[in-house]
Amino acid sequence: MDKKLLTPGPLTTSKTTKEAMLHDWGSRDKNFIELNKSIRKSLIKLIDGEDLFECVPMQGSGTFAVEAMIGSLTKTNSKILILINGAYGQRMKKICEYHKRPYIVYEVVEHEVHDLLEIENIINNNKDLTHVFGVYCETTSGILNPIKSIADLVNKKNLSFFIDAMSAFGALPLSTKNLSFDAVAASSNKCLEGVPGVGFVLVKKAIIENTKGNCHSLSLDLFDQWQSMEKNAQWRFTPPTHVLAAFYQALKEHHTEGGVQGRYDRYMQNCKILCKGMEEIGFKQLLPEHLQAPIIITFMQPSDPSFKFEQFYDSLSKKGFLIYPGKLTIANTFRIGCIGYLNSNDMLEALKAIKKTIQEFNIQLN
Ligand SMILES: Cc1ncc(COP(=O)(O)O)c(C=O)c1O
Repeated sequence: MDKKLLTPGPLTTSKTTKEAMLHDWGSRDKNFIELNKSIRKSLIKLIDGEDLFECVPMQGSGTFAVEAMIGSLTKTNSKILILINGAYGQRMKKICEYHKRPYIVYEVVEHEVHDLLEIENIINNNKDLTHVFGVYCETTSGILNPIKSIADLVNKKNLSFFIDAMSAFGALPLSTKNLSFDAVAASSNKCLEGVPGVGFVLVKKAIIENTKGNCHSLSLDLFDQWQSMEKNAQWRFTPPTHVLAAFYQALKEHHTEGGVQGRYDRYMQNCKILCKGMEEIGFKQLLPEHLQAPIIITFMQPSDPSFKFEQFYDSLSKKGFLIYPGKLTIANTFRIGCIGYLNSNDMLEALKAIKKTIQEFNIQLN
């Protein structure tokens, strides 16, 4: 049996999603074209973006989608404020550097969210700003950034808001009905529970229409990709057909589960069970409850020298669970994800495996 992936992606997928990859698809065939159209439509529907938004899928991992969003939808004379509290905010900064997009950053430590008043001050003091970039759930720590409050502020200031919702999309609320943004990037293999290999950008039609010639890269040019899909519903270059077939199935299962709310409920239940169980074992969680997204949880490594992350990891792996190393710069931590095709029982089994490992290595937790 496959090990359970308690990670932020790739993650555990359903058997039916994996089985959807058992067929070969002709990329110019009408069945595949219909499947592709349906995926694009479903993703727009998930943000209630019908009539207003376009969906442009992009081959590759999530970073390809984020880079395509930034490189295609901004210009060399844009000026971007990047909100950073972890590695994925840093990555957007790196992308801006590669693409020579002028930017400033407002960075806070990885276990804190940005101060809204300070964001407003920065915007007031930088009259040439055109965009603000934010990360919804910063997967580095698992922190839930206050995306709605930030979006409201950015909207009030008449700037364009781009969201990296990679680890949030499909499980945390993101609707054009109550949140104002111009573009969002995400991928198939996180909360939508597809397999890795395709990302997508949802962008306002009024924005993408005016982006011809912005992108330095042909393969990452969202405008070009969009134009091609609009013209004949085909991909410009070889599409990841099997990944898309699995994505189609995963989206059907997402819908059956009750859409974003259904998925949120299961992940929240997973998260609660995990956090409570870990606390009972004696582990300390990095984030307070109100900042914790039900996506991935950061735990402090015990100070007892008999705790060695590699040993802990290997032991859990032997018991059927793969966890994630920490990504914080400020402390030694490890992470356990609660997203993917996992339920309460999986979390309880994972907790049993963790408890057993602690006993085997005689690790003191107080
Ligand atoms: C918030 C966020 N942004 C971007 C990425 C990058 O995605 P990928 O690793 O698929 O390129 C990740 C990956 O975990 C993420 O969590």
